[in-house]
Amino acid sequence: MTNDLTVIVLAAGGGTRMRSKTMKVLHRLGGRSMVGHVLTAIASVSPQQVVAVVGTQREMVGPHIQEYCPDCQLVVQDDLDGTGGAVRVAMEQVEMSTGTVLVAYGDTPLLEGDTLRTFAAEHDAAERAVSILTAVVVNPFGYGRLIRSPDGEVEAIVEEKDATVDQREIREINSGIMAFDAEFLRHALPRLGNDNAKGEFYLTDLVSVAREDGLTVGAHPIEDVWQTEGANDRVQLAELGRELNRRIVTRWMLDGVTVMDPATTWIDADVQLAPDVTILPGTQLLGATVVAEDAVIGPDTTLKDCEVGSGARVVRAHGELAVIGPQADVGPFTYMRPGTLLGSAAKLGAFVEAKNAQLGDGAKVPHLSYVGDAEIGAASNIGAGTIFANYDGVEKHRSKVGRHVRTGSGNVFVAPVEVGDGAATGAGAVVRRNVPPGALAVSGGPQRNLEGWTLRRRAGTPQAEAAEQGLQREEP
Ligand code: UD1
Ligand code: CA
Repeated sequence: MTNDLTVIVLAAGGGTRMRSKTMKVLHRLGGRSMVGHVLTAIASVSPQQVVAVVGTQREMVGPHIQEYCPDCQLVVQDDLDGTGGAVRVAMEQVEMSTGTVLVAYGDTPLLEGDTLRTFAAEHDAAERAVSILTAVVVNPFGYGRLIRSPDGEVEAIVEEKDATVDQREIREINSGIMAFDAEFLRHALPRLGNDNAKGEFYLTDLVSVAREDGLTVGAHPIEDVWQTEGANDRVQLAELGRELNRRIVTRWMLDGVTVMDPATTWIDADVQLAPDVTILPGTQLLGATVVAEDAVIGPDTTLKDCEVGSGARVVRAHGELAVIGPQADVGPFTYMRPGTLLGSAAKLGAFVEAKNAQLGDGAKVPHLSYVGDAEIGAASNIGAGTIFANYDGVEKHRSKVGRHVRTGSGNVFVAPVEVGDGAATGAGAVVRRNVPPGALAVSGGPQRNLEGWTLRRRAGTPQAEAAEQGLQREEP
């Protein structure tokens, strides 16, 4: 790889066909924005400098670009006067005077680093003024066409709107990715005119400028046309998203992951899977999810930013920012909210919701329960239909259950409350006071109504207001 490589990313255009308040390059697929994918590919070729041109919604696009590429320099194109105009403002920030400048667009999410690397290396080796990454496509409509001399030399790029009827028949197109000799680029940019159908400064006109100067221009055709394709509307975004997913799923299968139904399996670009993971139909692994070997996920499971230990089983579950220990057992129909942590061989069973809840090794919440803001010790079992009542209407509180505890069905743990190691509770217990280790807690008895409690203890809340109105209505 050349040491003198600068990359310019064009991301100033609006993308009106998205019909969105969100800028085109910020639309997402595979867990990243379009421009995020492009910047990831660019980072993998380790350029000396990356300059991103922003314009439309730059207050959104600029910071987003810097998240992916903190060393990236942003330049603002105030007047969207064409790709040539965009590169002209970018070049004002480019430090190097020799070497290669690569131009890419922010909306080609399937572009791969290897493609950029090979393209830039070939451009260097051939000592060209300009190289164009081209593709031969079935439908060239809308693209700039490659005009070649009878002996195959690249003469010019003609844009769709400026092309003659004959030129429009040409199926070799400019992908938009171009490489330039930095010195040539700097001196040639001011020579661009805008006397064309769009009244814009076309970067592509630099091909004929180079030819006029007797410099070499070359084209590097790419077979894998998807890599240069941009999404202009949401139909194309979905198509690119599906293709990207197909590529990611295929790569994982070749790396040893069993995917029963690739068509209904969605895996984001940043997910990490170990060999011998099995993914069953209808599963989405999103964000920074990591799955260890022999785990089985699915069917119909969505995990976002989760960690799954080896040999764990997750069936028809939805999880976000949860950690599932090795050999743990989750589902079916389980909701793991942020902060759910399952120890090894722990279980969260059917119709269980957990949030900010830590289960020790071998701890089980098998059925129909809510565990919020609680810690459950190793090897404890929580009876069916149990609620950790973590919210008193004003504040959230945490509860703690010790090791080897057995709780009865239909319990309510009124937080904050602690249950000691080896303790037990009876069916239907409402546990408001701490239970010492080894004790059995039972509760119940006749119902008592403490009249006016809300007005005294929750004065000034909407609950108190409703109580007051209710009381007035009941007055004869
Ligand atoms: C461009 C090429 C065309 C190529 C096609 C590939 C030119 C003149 N034409 O056409 O040969 O086949 O891409 O997709 O270069 N942009 C800016 N500032 C501007 C104008 C554009 O940053 O003033 C950015 C856009 O955000 C976009 C990219 O440059 O990312 C391409 O611009 P667009 O207007 O879509 O060019 P095309 O007409 O598609
Ligand atoms: Ca375009």
